[in-house]
This record gives sequence, C-alpha cells and structure tokens, in this order.
Amino acid sequence: MTVPASPRPNPLTIPTLAALQARESAKWGRFEPDVLPLYVAEMDVEFAPPVRDALAKAIATGDVGYRTGTAYEESLVTFARERWDWPSLAVEHIVGVPDVITGYVDAITLVTEPGDAVIINPPAYPPFFSFVEGAGRRVEESPLTADFRIDLADLEAAFQRATAGGRPAAYLLCNPHNPTGTLHTRAELESVAALAARYGVRVVADEIHAPLVYSDATYTPYLTVDSERADAFSLMSASKAWNLAGIPAALLVAGEGAMEDLARYKSVPRHGPSQLGALAQTAAYTQGGPWLDDLLAGLDANRHLLGALLKEHLPEVAYTWPESTYLAWLDFSAYDLGGEDPSEFLHREARVMLNSGPMFRLGGAGHARINFATSPAILTEAIERIARALR
Ligand SMILES: Cc1ncc(COP(=O)(O)O)c(C=O)c1O
Repeated sequence: MTVPASPRPNPLTIPTLAALQARESAKWGRFEPDVLPLYVAEMDVEFAPPVRDALAKAIATGDVGYRTGTAYEESLVTFARERWDWPSLAVEHIVGVPDVITGYVDAITLVTEPGDAVIINPPAYPPFFSFVEGAGRRVEESPLTADFRIDLADLEAAFQRATAGGRPAAYLLCNPHNPTGTLHTRAELESVAALAARYGVRVVADEIHAPLVYSDATYTPYLTVDSERADAFSLMSASKAWNLAGIPAALLVAGEGAMEDLARYKSVPRHGPSQLGALAQTAAYTQGGPWLDDLLAGLDANRHLLGALLKEHLPEVAYTWPESTYLAWLDFSAYDLGGEDPSEFLHREARVMLNSGPMFRLGGAGHARINFATSPAILTEAIERIARALR
C-alpha cells in the first residue's frame, strides 16, 4: 500500500504570533506590541528550507567573506528560462548590485544627468520618489488610470515634457506594480517600448515582485518586449518572493542596447551583493520553486479571504484585486475620517498598521496599502478590528 504524501504546509501558517512578536525587523519591531502590522513588505514566514540550509552551511563554516563568481547571475538565468520562458537572458547582461533600490538609482544615474526627469506612475512605491529625488532627478508623474493600468496617452505626454529641449530622461517602471499588484500586459509593455523609442526615454524596470504572480496571470519581463532598441534595464532579486530583505542582493540586467552603459557601470568601483545575500538568493532561485508554489497557494487563498472579509465587514472599501504581489490597494474614501489619513486613523483606533496611501503620491489620498502575507487568522483579526473601528 502506498502512503499518500502529506501535503506541504502553507508557509504563512508556520510562525506563531509569539514568534512574530519577538522579531526585531521593521514589520513586527517598529510599533506597539498590540498592533497588528500589515504594512511594510515583509512576510510572516520562516525561511524556505533550501535558503535556510545554504545560510546554515555558510554560518557553520564561516563562509562569509567577499562574494565571487556568477552563481547568483546564473541562477536568475535558469529561473527566467524555466519560470518565465525567457531563454535569451545571458549572464553577460547581468551585474550584481547590493539591493534593488541601489540598482535602480545607479541605472537612472547612469543614463540621466542631475535635474533630468524620471517618469513614475503613481500611486507607486514611495522610495521610487524619495530615492529618485535624493539622486537629484526631477519626478514627472504619469498616474495610472482609474483601473490601475498605464495611461499610454498620459505617458506619452509625460515623455514629451520630460525630453523637451532634447534632455535625457528615464522611466522607472514597476512591473508588477506596487501597490496595486497590476501586471502590465505584453501589449501594454510593447506600447511603452515604442513610446520610449520614439522619445528616447530610457526604461528602468523594477521587477522585484516578478516571482509573485498567481497561476491565473502572466508576467511579461520588460526586456523580452523591448526589442526595438533594447536599451532598457531591469532590476531583479529573489528578496521579495523569498522574504530576504534583511540579506539583500539584487541583479541589474541590461538589454542588448544598454551593454555599453553596463560596461561603463562596471568600469567604476562600486559595491556588489554581500556573500550571505547572494548565497541565500541563489538558493532561492535554484531550489526554492516548490516553497514558492506553496507560498503562492497560501497568498492566493489570502487574496480571496481578504475579498470575502471586506465584502462581509467593510463593503464600502474598494479592493483592487491584485494579479500579483501580496500587496493590495484599499480605498477607504467612502468613510468620513475628517480628512485623516486612513492608516493613521486605523493605527490609533483599530491597532492595525497599514501603509499610508498619500505616501504613494497622486491617487493616494483616502487609500492605504495592506500586506496580506500573514496567517489567515491574523488577516481575519485585522479586518475585524478595522471594521469595528469604522462602524
Ligand atoms: C517595487 C520595489 N522595489 C524595491 C524594493 C526594495 O528592494 P531592496 O530592499 O532590494 O532595495 C521594494 C520593497 O518592497 C519594492 O516593492
């Protein structure tokens, strides 16, 4: 008689509440102990076993010197071929960078000059704005449409404004989009590539969330559509999908037409990823597929649970159904909070922490971002608390 294999556990149900509350990183470490934190993009999971084993081996043997070789780059090449059907990606196009934010700032700095414009689609990940402005570039906003798609007509107008007088400009694309979980379609990305070619805008695509795509949706890597000039960059990392923000390591990928820029980038001294970060993220890409599938099943269940809870307890909150990521964009504007930011109101009154909508800039007022990468029990408790506070 064959014994049926026991189903693998949902990674989101493994850490206990007490274990989470003992964590010191931002999600559980920043606010008062009675607050349920559903904000910053960390997940309530333990390590994927192959990642834990890779780290344990390095720590047991003291293998924590400087990184060398291209194992991390190669692991992305294999993952991209197998998971995203992207066979042409090659190691020569990839360079390691300390983390994704450093990577997109460096790419933008490489192709623009101080005072040049960088186009961003709000509502968008707040460090898009802060780090771009911190690097001395000017943000040109092109808001997403009401259903959170790229507004191609508005994007063209933004490209036109940004490049007026022949100035260089960059477009910081978020694919998949944070905070809405929008997956840009191949057709939309082809239109973006055509506009970028027409106006000479350099695309820098932040694709950190790319492994976090549900089975009913398709992710299109930006560099696979940009065949006309192929002078774009993409930023990849395993850190969001395997919850490795504390041991970051990212990869800057250059399209064929950006290879000279990449050579220029490599010729200047700079830091790459740390050894521990690269080891962990290589293990994630090469051996973390089954864990990722289990995680995605748990996140998919939470995506549905969140929809059901909102329908039952908070029917006036508009929930944008995420096609990817564990983040969702909630519209609280039907509630009269006297003009207060919903996240501040809910922190105080519900003891639930969400991300502040206005930080995501245009379109953010009255909204908040929720991180549903937690156990169904915590998610349920958080929504019930919010419902009681808004009653
Ligand atoms: C779109 C996006 N880019 C970058 C980051 C941060 O990447 P890193 O920690 O590697 O700098 C995040 C984190 O949530 C993100 O959502």
